[in-house]
Amino acid sequence: MPEPVKVLVTGAAGQIAYSLLFGIAKGDVFGKDQPLILVLLDITPMMTVLEGVVMELQDCALPLLKEVIATDKEDVAFKDLDVAILVGSMPRREGMERKDLLKANVKIFKSQGAALNKYSKKSVKVIVVGNPANTNCLTALKSAPSIPKENFSCLTRLDHNRAKAQIALKLNVASDDVKNVIIWGNHSSTQYPDASHASVTLQGKDVGAFEAVKNDDWLKGGFITTVQQRGAAVIKARKLSSAMSAAKAICDHVRDIWFGTPEGQFVSMGVISDGNSYGVPEDLMYSFPLTIKNKTWKIVEGLCINDFSREKMDITAKELQDEKETAFEFLSSE
Ligand code: NAI
Repeated sequence: MPEPVKVLVTGAAGQIAYSLLFGIAKGDVFGKDQPLILVLLDITPMMTVLEGVVMELQDCALPLLKEVIATDKEDVAFKDLDVAILVGSMPRREGMERKDLLKANVKIFKSQGAALNKYSKKSVKVIVVGNPANTNCLTALKSAPSIPKENFSCLTRLDHNRAKAQIALKLNVASDDVKNVIIWGNHSSTQYPDASHASVTLQGKDVGAFEAVKNDDWLKGGFITTVQQRGAAVIKARKLSSAMSAAKAICDHVRDIWFGTPEGQFVSMGVISDGNSYGVPEDLMYSFPLTIKNKTWKIVEGLCINDFSREKMDITAKELQDEKETAFEFLSSE
C-alpha cells in the first residue's frame, strides 16, 4: 500500500463539501488503491455540523480512508498537506457591496496562504473554489511565497463541464463525445465559453463543433449566455447554489492534476498568467486551456483567436485586473 495522501477540504461543513468528501474518500480522485487522510476545516460555529460530517464519513466504512481530522485551527489544518482544496469563503449577503465581499475574502485567503506557506509541504497542490475563486487564488498565492506559483489553480471546470454538456444536449450525444471546449478568464458571468476549438464525435468521426452543431448563432449567442448564467439558473430553481456538479468538477480538476489529461484533450483551469499567452496580462489568475503531465500543467499554445473571441477574452481579463487591484489594496492594508 502506498503512503496516504493528506488532503485538506475547507468549508467542510458546507454543501459542496458534503458531496466532495464522499467523492474523494471513495477513490474518485486519487485512485482506488490510494489511502487518504482527510482534513476538514471550517469555522468554529460550524464544528457541531462538522462532527456530523465526520460521523457520516466513518459510517461509509470506506477502505481508503485512514484518518479524518476535523478542526477550526489553521495550524492543524494546513500541516504537511499534499493537496489543499479551498472551498470555504465568505458568501455574498444581501446588500453587500462587491468590494466588501472582496475585502472579507482577502482576509481569509491571506491567512490561509500564510498557513500553506508555513505548515504545508512545498509540493502541495492548492485548488481554490470559494468565490471570487480566481482572485482568492491569487491572494493565497501571493501570501505563500515559498510554494511554487504553478502549484495554485482555481476551479473553472464546472463551467467547462457545463459547456460540454450544453453541446452534447444540443446534438443528443454523450458528453464524452464533446472535447476541447474552453473557458477563458474569470469564473464569473464575464467568462468566455469558447466552442471554436472543440470537436464532437459523430458516427465515429471527429468534426469541429461549429460543423457539427450547424448553428453559429447559437454557439456565438445562447450557448455562451447559458453557460455564463448557469449558476444563477440553478440557484433560481433549487434555491441553493450548484453543489453536486461543483463537487464533481472539483474531482475532475484534481484527478487531472494528479494523473494528467488524456492524450489529445485539454481542460480549463485558472492558472497564473506570465504575460506570454494569448495576450493575457501578467500576474492574473486566468482560465486557459491546459494539458497536464507529471503533475505539471502547460497552456495549450497556438490556437487561432478571431476578433469575436479576442473581445470576449479581453473583457474578462479587464474584470480580473479590476478585482486584483481592489484585492491588492486590501492585501497591503491588512
Ligand atoms: P456553503 O455556504 O454551503 O459552505 C461554505 C462553508 O465554508 C461553510 O460551512 C462556512 O462556514 C465555511 N467557511 C467560511 N469561511 C471559512 C473559513 N475562513 N475557513 C473555513 N471554512 C469557512 O457554500 P458552498 O455551496 O459549499 O460553496 C462554497 C463556495 O464555493 C462558495 O464561495 C461558492 O460561491 C463557491 N463555488 C465556486 C464554484 C466554482 O466553480 N469556482 C462553483 C460553485 C460554488
